[in-house]
Amino acid sequence: MERGEHLVDSIAVGGIVTVRDRLLEKQSQGKKVYRLESGDPSFPVPEHIREAIKKALDEGHTHYTSGAGIKPLREAIHRKLVEENRIPVKDPGHVLVTNGAMNALYIAFHALVQPGDEIIMPDPTWTETADNVILAGGVPVRARLDCGDGYRYGAEAIEAAVTPRTRAVVINTPHNPTGMVLRREELIPILRLAERHGLWVISDEAYEHVLFDGRKHVSAASLGYERVLSIFSMSKSYAMSGLRLGYLSCNDDRLVERMAKLLRCTINGVNSATQIGAIAALTGPQDATSRMAEEYQVRRDALWEGLQEVRVLHSFRPQGAFYLWARIDESWEGYAGMRGGRAMTECLIEETGIGSVPGEVFGPAGAGHIRFAFSCPTDQVVAAAAILKRRWAD
Ligand SMILES: Cc1ncc(COP(=O)(O)O)c(C=O)c1O
Repeated sequence: MERGEHLVDSIAVGGIVTVRDRLLEKQSQGKKVYRLESGDPSFPVPEHIREAIKKALDEGHTHYTSGAGIKPLREAIHRKLVEENRIPVKDPGHVLVTNGAMNALYIAFHALVQPGDEIIMPDPTWTETADNVILAGGVPVRARLDCGDGYRYGAEAIEAAVTPRTRAVVINTPHNPTGMVLRREELIPILRLAERHGLWVISDEAYEHVLFDGRKHVSAASLGYERVLSIFSMSKSYAMSGLRLGYLSCNDDRLVERMAKLLRCTINGVNSATQIGAIAALTGPQDATSRMAEEYQVRRDALWEGLQEVRVLHSFRPQGAFYLWARIDESWEGYAGMRGGRAMTECLIEETGIGSVPGEVFGPAGAGHIRFAFSCPTDQVVAAAAILKRRWAD
């Protein structure tokens, strides 16, 4: 690297943030906007979690905590991972509490990657997954998901990307941005491949509770392969996005020690009151989480049905997460080669006030695609679906 250049300069400011700022600007001018650009749950944090956080503040839980998380929370997470996810985590000492799943990805890649190591991930992928690999000095290597086979992430495409520099494979199910959900029989060959090549698996399960049509989430680490680092988030499961709490588990002592050091030198512990709220979330009633998933399915259906009549978009029916991924038909008058996604996002903001994200933000395979998020209120999703239908139906 030349003097004056910096590694951080090589990652983008953020394609989603740019769209959000444009929409907020329009809103401030009194224009109606539909916030289908970012994946932030519209729901309030369930009441028992809010109460636990308020009580924690009143009782003076406002001091530094252990950098890796308070003991009762690590114990509650350990129980949840063993009982619900069926992950054989050795003990609560192999659980780390992080500032959201984002921070978990940051410390995971920093603990694993040596300069030049390659990390295989789906293409398209959530932008920050690739960014965090780059920040750790690694090289993101993308395995293309094709619309032809329903955007499946398969062992064959991953195997083709393996080189002597490969260090790990990222799995993300339910998947952002396509809404694809991997089944047990699809996960097993990926884990076998990882075992054959001695690779780590980073399993991003941020959307484990947002599944449609009765699907069940399967955690990669529950399938018998040891070298899996599993990452979870409270942002989507409990609508706690702004409270910033995620966690990870890993049975490798050396990696856990490295990640604990990284936590100490970065966040030095998650907000103390939020950690107490997280215990209430994990040990209290789970009905709010299921109700949110049901409402996301209502939104998925509304958007999906609306888009069926939009002739210029070929939509993938989401199986989980709260994103709808669509390929833009080349017959669309605004389709400018591979920049179709950006052109359509622009057109939607200007003409309709509907937010979206150009597919190319998520990697080369996203060119000519667009992503809609349906985590904003149901009435906004329904209204946006009707506008899209009117604008582009035959
Ligand atoms: C795939 C994926 N992983 C991780 C995260 C990070 O979640 P958080 O940092 O809010 O826990 C997100 C957020 O959108 C995501 O889409």
